[in-house]
Amino acid sequence: MGNHGEDLIQRAAKDLINSGCAIALTGAGISTESGIPDFRGPSGVWTKDPEAERRAYRSYQAFREDPKGWWEERLSSPVSLLGDLEKAMPNPGHLALAELERMGILKWVITQNIDGLHEKAGSKNVLEYHGCAFKLRCVSCGSRFKRDEFDLEKLKTENQLPPRCPKCGGVIKSDTVAFGEPIPSDIAHQSLAEAWRCDLMLICGTSAVVYPFANLPITAREKRIEKEKATETGLHVVEKIPAVIIIEINAEPTPLTYEKISDYLIQGKTGEILPKIVEEVKKSRKG
Ligand code: APR
Repeated sequence: MGNHGEDLIQRAAKDLINSGCAIALTGAGISTESGIPDFRGPSGVWTKDPEAERRAYRSYQAFREDPKGWWEERLSSPVSLLGDLEKAMPNPGHLALAELERMGILKWVITQNIDGLHEKAGSKNVLEYHGCAFKLRCVSCGSRFKRDEFDLEKLKTENQLPPRCPKCGGVIKSDTVAFGEPIPSDIAHQSLAEAWRCDLMLICGTSAVVYPFANLPITAREKRIEKEKATETGLHVVEKIPAVIIIEINAEPTPLTYEKISDYLIQGKTGEILPKIVEEVKKSRKG
């Protein structure tokens, strides 16, 4: 990243310091430096195996048709497409966002990632928009459980699959949200509320092609505030100006860049750029 990137890093630090309610939206790109592949980047899971993506698109339908068969198949091939998520550790990008939360600047992280690395990095306010690989969820009452609250192997050998919700008896599935599956309503509502409430949105490591997540920046872009402006004739007029600064940090431009939903793109690695932004914020605060 050349000098141009450094100027944008200072600009992002200034924007963060001047913000009153900053949030971060993240995608698989922020976890690649933790050894977890993304999906659509050059060595992404879907890029390398398009058939795996086609299977993923069928998964939710298969679950609804035959939850018992879905669980038996899932337990017979427990290796996640994303590798061993339990061993993955947060990288400087996750740690930088946790630091911004501790500084009182970042209010929420809304992540598409199911790897739990934002919490592992110390972020407290995290909305897992596509769920979490280490949790299970009842599709009837929405209750979530840690995966180890159920002995899935035992349920399988005793022909007791699918797991049943201890609260309502509903069918339980992985908390991970599959293509075509509704975003759990509690997360969907709060994510939209935070996107509408924020005055700065950092968008880190996402290709921004999957909906409804990609609607969040578009929603924020529509937010306007009224500002009085004096005209040459001394008249005061009220104009509506954009109320949110949207900053992309990504290895490549995305539709948000091309469609000018984001104000600017800092192109490069989140694990390098985010810590530099935090350093600039700290320097400015000391100064
Ligand atoms: N730093 C910055 N950007 C990166 C890095 C990095 N270290 N590594 C990869 N990227 C960029 C890629 O260039 C790409 O633009 O991050 C983006 C990741 O995009 P995707 O692979 O599409 O991941 P994501 O946007 O999170 O996918 C959304 O699709 O498959 C579903 O449910 C899955 O949550 C996922 C959703």
